[in-house]
Amino acid sequence: MPRIFITGSTDGLGRAAAGALMGRGHDVVLHARTRERAAALSDLAPDAAGVVIGDLSSAAQTREVAAQVNQIGRMDAVIHNAGVYLEPSRGTTAEGHAKTLAVNTLAPYLLTALIDRPDRLIYLSSGLHHGGAGSLRDIDWTRRSWNAAQAYSESKLHVTALALTLARAWPDVLSNAVDPGWVPTKMGGPYATGDLEMGYLTQTWLAVSNDTAATVSGGYWYHRQRQAPASQARDPAFQDQLMDRLAALTGVALS
Ligand SMILES: NC(=O)c1ccc[n+]([C@@H]2O[C@H](COP(=O)([O-])OP(=O)(O)OC[C@H]3O[C@@H](n4cnc5c(N)ncnc54)[C@H](OP(=O)(O)O)[C@@H]3O)[C@@H](O)[C@H]2O)c1
Repeated sequence: MPRIFITGSTDGLGRAAAGALMGRGHDVVLHARTRERAAALSDLAPDAAGVVIGDLSSAAQTREVAAQVNQIGRMDAVIHNAGVYLEPSRGTTAEGHAKTLAVNTLAPYLLTALIDRPDRLIYLSSGLHHGGAGSLRDIDWTRRSWNAAQAYSESKLHVTALALTLARAWPDVLSNAVDPGWVPTKMGGPYATGDLEMGYLTQTWLAVSNDTAATVSGGYWYHRQRQAPASQARDPAFQDQLMDRLAALTGVALS
């Protein structure tokens, strides 16, 4: 049975994906931001392959999360799901970064670099990534006035480009990005019009299915259908510039 690590599995889509995969007998490694939040996993944890703890807004804790995962063993798939949406201010993380950038962009990048390379990588994107162009001019929001929605869009463009970069750079890994749709979670809110189940089925399918359609790389998906991502996400020059910036911000280069 494949072993899957899911970031941000205490709530929403991550938790639902974890429950669905565990229900089908897969080994799932869960993740909570803090020990207190891990209490939300009390029903799933006894049957999980492990629970790792760490706040992804902190680069130091993100490194610890990677170390905890590697200690458990090599994952077959990693679903980079944890995310934040409309942060009221830039916020300054322990390392001085904007919180949205740290959680949504830097953490998946660092975890990708530091977790023993799995067979499959899935990144939670959003349709809003189409509005993320131009982010490299001030990626860490040090010069612009804070705009939470724009920061979110940019962070989702980053992870979409990361997924597509890896599809190009790591041909032995299946790397894809998923738009789950607008679904009723803590992030999506109660008025979201999308179906929660449809919101997580694509990432669980990409993580474990041996269907020909699921064993591809470099896709941007919505409800198990490939869609066209923003042109920048597909642009090798943008991808290379983004990887350079992320390497500089984290001090870790992707091999
Ligand atoms: N819901 C939507 O409509 C929608 C639409 C498009 C894309 N997405 C994407 O789908 C993914 C999951 O969203 P969701 O709707 O399931 O969100 P959610 O219900 O708010 O859950 C987010 C998860 O990420 C965790 N997380 C947040 N900040 C963290 C941090 N600093 N360190 C560690 N874990 C952290 C949360 O833990 P805590 O509960 O402890 O904070 C929670 O487990 C996100 O990447 C989001 O951008 C969602």
